[in-house]
Amino acid sequence: MNWYEDMNLWSGFSEVLFTPERARAAADAVATSPLLAFAPASRVLDQCCGTGFFTAPLARRGYQVTGVDLHPELLERAAAACADAGATASLVRADVREYGAPEAYDVVVNMYTSFGYFDDHEDNMRVLHNAHRSLAPGGQLLVDLLSKETYASWVGPPKIVDVPGGMVVMRDTILDDWTRYRTDWTLVRGDTAAHTSLTCYVYSAAELRDMFAEAGFGKIECFGNLDGGPYDANATRLIIRGSKGSG
Ligand SMILES: C[S@@+](CC[C@H](N)C(=O)[O-])C[C@H]1O[C@@H](n2cnc3c(N)ncnc32)[C@H](O)[C@@H]1O
Repeated sequence: MNWYEDMNLWSGFSEVLFTPERARAAADAVATSPLLAFAPASRVLDQCCGTGFFTAPLARRGYQVTGVDLHPELLERAAAACADAGATASLVRADVREYGAPEAYDVVVNMYTSFGYFDDHEDNMRVLHNAHRSLAPGGQLLVDLLSKETYASWVGPPKIVDVPGGMVVMRDTILDDWTRYRTDWTLVRGDTAAHTSLTCYVYSAAELRDMFAEAGFGKIECFGNLDGGPYDANATRLIIRGSKGSG
């Protein structure tokens, strides 16, 4: 089994990945980010929506949102998040390498480093191709991730993150001359320790620009945070946006 197919990874470490603080930050970003302000009633596809941290506030804002994820347990949490927000979204269990609906969306988002998971480069390209074919002419894809440049600014010794009743030790290892990285997580609680790891591509802005262009996107722009700040030495994320030409 590939790591991203392992529900134990997502549920075991959900206290680090899917925290109330992240939910609040995502809701704030949807309320204030110029990059997440779309035309009223836009049809939005949220690739790898997880527990719905972006899906729910986007739906609450009035967009017609479809969230796609591999794991039913996470989609159930996304449905609950939408219900809590008083919003509805369509939630689909599918693999982002396969899911697409020709010209059915005005916007595709892929948030919080949910891209670059597949060992085969062509599989990662398929995710971009699926986004492109799912967009109506003039539509846009927005990908938010930890890039090579932003990762390089903080990767270092192992970090310890407190979680209720325990802690998680997180260690990052750069692989293949900065092509990919592995993150090892050990959750320690009382006398037990659970270990898991993931391996992901880490892209520079230039590499992702080339991939967006190869998938057919134009007007490619990079930002350093969801406020729309420049992608420079102060960038905390890479937000890359591309448009599908209108013909
Ligand atoms: C880091 S989480 C981010 C989730 C969400 N975007 C957020 O902001 O919280 C990555 C998500 O990708 C999903 N995922 C991993 N592989 C996938 C695949 N092949 N197809 C669809 N979803 C996938 C996982 O289930 C998980 O929910």
